[in-house]
Amino acid sequence: MAKPFHLGWFMNFSPDAWDADFSAGGSPWDGKFHTEMAVALERACFDYIMLEDTLMVSEAYGGTAEVTLKHALQVPKHDPIPLAALIAAATTRLGVVATMSTMAWPPFMLARVASTLDHIAGGRFGWNIVTSGEDIAAQNFGMDKLPPREARYEMADEYVDLVCRLFDTWEPGADVKDRATGTYADFRKVHTLNFEGKYFRCRGPLNTVRSPQGRPAFVQAGGSPRGRAFAARHADSIIATANGIKGMKAYRDDVRARAIEAGRNPDDIKVLFLAYPTIGDTREEAYAKYERMINAPSFIERALASTSTVTDIDFSKFPLDEPLPPLTTNGEQGSLDKFAQWGSGKTLRQLAKERFDGEIKYIGTPDEVAALMGEVMEEVGGDGFLISSPFQRVSRRFIVEITEGLVPALQRRGLARTAYTKTMLRDTLREF
Ligand SMILES: Cc1cc2nc3c(=O)[nH]c(=O)nc-3n(C[C@H](O)[C@H](O)[C@H](O)COP(=O)(O)O)c2cc1C
Repeated sequence: MAKPFHLGWFMNFSPDAWDADFSAGGSPWDGKFHTEMAVALERACFDYIMLEDTLMVSEAYGGTAEVTLKHALQVPKHDPIPLAALIAAATTRLGVVATMSTMAWPPFMLARVASTLDHIAGGRFGWNIVTSGEDIAAQNFGMDKLPPREARYEMADEYVDLVCRLFDTWEPGADVKDRATGTYADFRKVHTLNFEGKYFRCRGPLNTVRSPQGRPAFVQAGGSPRGRAFAARHADSIIATANGIKGMKAYRDDVRARAIEAGRNPDDIKVLFLAYPTIGDTREEAYAKYERMINAPSFIERALASTSTVTDIDFSKFPLDEPLPPLTTNGEQGSLDKFAQWGSGKTLRQLAKERFDGEIKYIGTPDEVAALMGEVMEEVGGDGFLISSPFQRVSRRFIVEITEGLVPALQRRGLARTAYTKTMLRDTLREF
């Protein structure tokens, strides 16, 4: 019998928005599309929906926001926190993960909002821990440029330590609600911290009551060695991008080894790999759809600009029909490495066309894609996939293709859960 794997959903951007039909009323921005999507994912028994976030309008491609805005690349978007609250209220089992940057949020505020969301979600909230990757995002927070990666992660380590201590300022059961003495909370069980770190100072305690999970689930996406070390130390789930089975296996083996080094059980970390499935009723139809996408007139520009956005590298500067020179970034190194397929000798144009798949193409009927995913997981060793759609164009049609096409095909093969058995996100992640 096949072993089931985990499924996450990468919710970046907003609704299918301007090419969807809202003529019957409503707006793509009122949150209803997001909750509809989450309800569909819950019906398909996804582990979680992950609401991505960045904090800028990118000018990385061509030095202006023209292409970013023309193609709506990662903007406009909503703040993930109110969306997470709406989604949590509309669902009962689906994990709700929101991205918050350690660069942007004061630790006390982050701990409090995360605790509040974990209550609203009944223990299903997760925090996607990011340190941000763009200089112009840093400029929205009073800095001239982003600190180097090493420094960002050093700060983030201290940040997470502080936030965890804040979660623990309320002992379990501190809200004694003792009618005999008229006591709501026992002050001996609510602790001041007086945290004095290298980067942060915080008195504590939190002024929210301890949340159902104690601390929400942690999600992270470290790509660099330093980022992987961070993820291995803190994450309950890692969202990753890696090229081909070899790359995926190497990534997962590496973070599991790092987890053991950090004294953790590697099975407590579920690594979900990004996948962009293209589903059709027939193989031919699916491939025709894929070909239409990559041969669309603006595809190359959008593929390059969206890569510029996450790597802070201006790809408009490189000739399309030559291989890329060696490059590094203070932004998303893992995404750069996957995109660049170093050593393949491919031209920039070829790389752009493969922006969403690389070596493995999840294209075909639901059954074909389900079979392929099963084979990939078998070779990689686990733990599942983070489903996304190219250019963040999340349409109702795409949601249905996945939740009512691909997922049932996975379920028939025993590769995806058919019912939730747990109520809290960390438990759902550890179910198998
Ligand atoms: C699937 C995936 C999702 C990510 N989502 C976000 C996000 O929402 N916001 C963000 O600022 N960074 C996001 N990142 C970037 C990561 O937080 C991280 O910075 C990146 O993977 C590079 O790793 P490094 O920090 O170790 O260099 C994401 C990365 C991946 C692979």
